[in-house]
Amino acid sequence: MSWMRTLLPLSLALSAYATNHSRADGNITWGPCETEIEAGATIPLQCGNITVPLDYTDTKSDATLDVQVLKVPTDKTPKKGSIIFNFGGPGLEARTTLAQAAELLQTLTGGHYDLIANDPRGTANTLTFSCYENDTIRLSSFDQARFEEFAGPADKMALGRLWASASLVTQACHEHAESKERGELIGTAFTARDIMQIVDAVEDDGLLRFWGLSYGTVLGSTLAVMFPDRIDRIVIDGVMNPHEYYNSYDVEVIADTDAAFAQFIKECINAPEKCTLATHNSTATSLEKSIYQLLDTLKYQPIAYEGTIIDYGSIITIIRTTLNTPASWPTLSAALDSLLSRNLTQFLAIQASMNSPYASANMNEAVYGIHCADKKPGKHTFNEVLPTVSTLSNQSALMGQVGNPLSMLATQWKLEAKERYTGDFRAKTKHPMLVIGNTYDPTTPLRSARNISESFEGSIVLEHGGYGHCTLQHGSVCTGKAIQNYFNDGTLPKAGTFCEAAYPPFANMSWNDLLPKLGSNKTAN
Ligand SMILES: *[C@@H]1O[C@H](CO)[C@@H](O)[C@H](O)[C@H]1NC(C)=O
Ligand SMILES: *[C@@H]1O[C@H](CO)[C@@H](O)[C@H](O)[C@H]1NC(C)=O
Ligand SMILES: *[C@@H]1O[C@H](CO)[C@@H](O)[C@H](O)[C@H]1NC(C)=O
Ligand SMILES: *[C@@H]1O[C@H](CO)[C@@H](O)[C@H](O)[C@H]1NC(C)=O
Ligand SMILES: *[C@@H]1O[C@H](CO)[C@@H](O)[C@H](O)[C@H]1NC(C)=O
Ligand SMILES: *[C@@H]1O[C@H](CO)[C@@H](O)[C@H](O)[C@H]1NC(C)=O
Ligand SMILES: *[C@@H]1O[C@H](CO)[C@@H](O)[C@H](O)[C@H]1NC(C)=O
Ligand SMILES: *[C@@H]1O[C@H](CO)[C@@H](O)[C@H](O)[C@H]1NC(C)=O
Ligand SMILES: *[C@@H]1O[C@H](CO)[C@@H](O)[C@H](O)[C@H]1NC(C)=O
Ligand SMILES: *[C@@H]1O[C@H](CO)[C@@H](O)[C@H](O)[C@H]1NC(C)=O
Repeated sequence: MSWMRTLLPLSLALSAYATNHSRADGNITWGPCETEIEAGATIPLQCGNITVPLDYTDTKSDATLDVQVLKVPTDKTPKKGSIIFNFGGPGLEARTTLAQAAELLQTLTGGHYDLIANDPRGTANTLTFSCYENDTIRLSSFDQARFEEFAGPADKMALGRLWASASLVTQACHEHAESKERGELIGTAFTARDIMQIVDAVEDDGLLRFWGLSYGTVLGSTLAVMFPDRIDRIVIDGVMNPHEYYNSYDVEVIADTDAAFAQFIKECINAPEKCTLATHNSTATSLEKSIYQLLDTLKYQPIAYEGTIIDYGSIITIIRTTLNTPASWPTLSAALDSLLSRNLTQFLAIQASMNSPYASANMNEAVYGIHCADKKPGKHTFNEVLPTVSTLSNQSALMGQVGNPLSMLATQWKLEAKERYTGDFRAKTKHPMLVIGNTYDPTTPLRSARNISESFEGSIVLEHGGYGHCTLQHGSVCTGKAIQNYFNDGTLPKAGTFCEAAYPPFANMSWNDLLPKLGSNKTAN
């Protein structure tokens, strides 16, 4: 792997820097980060562990857990404190993501804060939630269960099978001694308490500053309602409706997916030189129609080609992963273009190029373990979950079937979090919250941002006119300044503020191109 070798000297240099600046900060001892984490960063990082109670509900136990934490120290004075990040999931690490986005996030938060991210319980190396002894067993179990297959609301046979495979996964998690023990300890309420332990360790004023994206907004809302008096700043960005997250099924998440897809096609037509798909038809409406027709054909007539099958799931998987990220819209355009032109060789090449190099690394069940430990839909049988399946399909023609595996799993899950927030998310935080929603976010609709803002007193919804999932996917000077102002001195934008994107989605630009306009000297990379 030649790229690893090229990066090694840089990461060693950074480690030496970090080691030299190692110091005790409350109860966290900061030192160098792992080589893999350093490799993705362009500025100095520090890593550490914080020891927290393993089970906050068991006051008699002195069992502890080491939560892994990463810090990007500010290089500006005066230092104003720290901002803690969560980038979503649940079930995703957070340290590596912060390391990679550190320079941009420093600029967007004004530069005077240390930036901190912890890998939440259940994720990465922090109390990893894994239901199988090793990947060989995992892959063969998933293969046998044929879990995650697409099953439409009208297809009772496929749905029945999905229910049975979810049953197998649930059983595996319940029977594996390690996951059985950990499953009750990885809920969001415990993670919120871990975050307040970090605040206790690093902040003189004991107050929380936080920026949560996607699932990080569920964590942020939970923090805000559990610790309203300790909130100095909270940005929630790309809001998941936390009522649904905890108490029913996540149906609202896909409310804007079809509209976002329609916008992708409109923007494609507006940039024909950057979007190969635009060559197929003259109007957005007819192009959209052709694509839906194509999907329908693939659903009932999958194509056998060169030893593989191209079906509905193949293309939905590509749409699902690329629609969230305008930077990958050219790939989405090329994939759809190749299918419409019947250039299947090209389609397979695009599909292969999208397999993440990390796909097989760190496989675990954290994404299900945390979500299902938190979720109490109050339904227990196949017949009870069926209406949800059709509700999902009514929300979105494109992604209506994607939520079904999670719904089936959550209905049968046995490992309930020892602590769950069960209230109504009504609170007045010490300082009001900044709530951000994109006009068209395929994964977290604007209406969820408006929903949660209703119950957090004084909070303001900022509408970000960019595409993709959460603000970081599409730059806006206006949004950047609003976030800077909020962290700098607590100023909230006026109610009803709409921030325009700085460039069209096919422009091959990013937030990094806006850094000079946001007052940063750092050169874009
Ligand atoms: C690192 O620490 C050593 C020993 O305390 C010291 O000699 C050296 O100058 C330090 N380097 C930097 C870059 O601060
Ligand atoms: C450090 O940990 C001890 C015991 O675990 C606790 O009593 C103390 O308050 C902690 N100090 C800080 C600054 O968090
Ligand atoms: C934190 O804990 C992990 C896992 O136990 C360990 O590998 C790592 O070295 C620790 N980091 C620090 C800075 O102590
Ligand atoms: C996975 O675990 C099984 C059961 O303990 C064992 O037989 C097998 O050798 C393991 N495989 C690997 C690759 O570790
Ligand atoms: C454009 O779409 C219309 C309606 O679907 C169809 O009749 C026409 O043939 C298409 N044109 C091209 C160039 O594909
Ligand atoms: C299919 O796409 C590839 C790659 O873009 C191209 O080289 C090839 O000529 C195309 N084949 C046909 C039949 O259009
Ligand atoms: C979903 O749509 C179908 C057909 O359009 C309709 O019959 C059904 O009542 C809808 N279900 C819900 C939950 O909206
Ligand atoms: C927010 O969403 C929940 C769950 O969908 C719903 O019950 C509640 O009425 C909504 N609140 C507002 C203010 O829209
Ligand atoms: C996008 O811009 C980068 C440089 O900023 C360039 O290397 C790359 O080729 C461009 N991609 C496209 C598709 O134009
Ligand atoms: C840009 O860098 C110069 C020199 O390091 C510094 O004096 C100036 O304050 C910086 N400007 C901003 C906006 O950070």
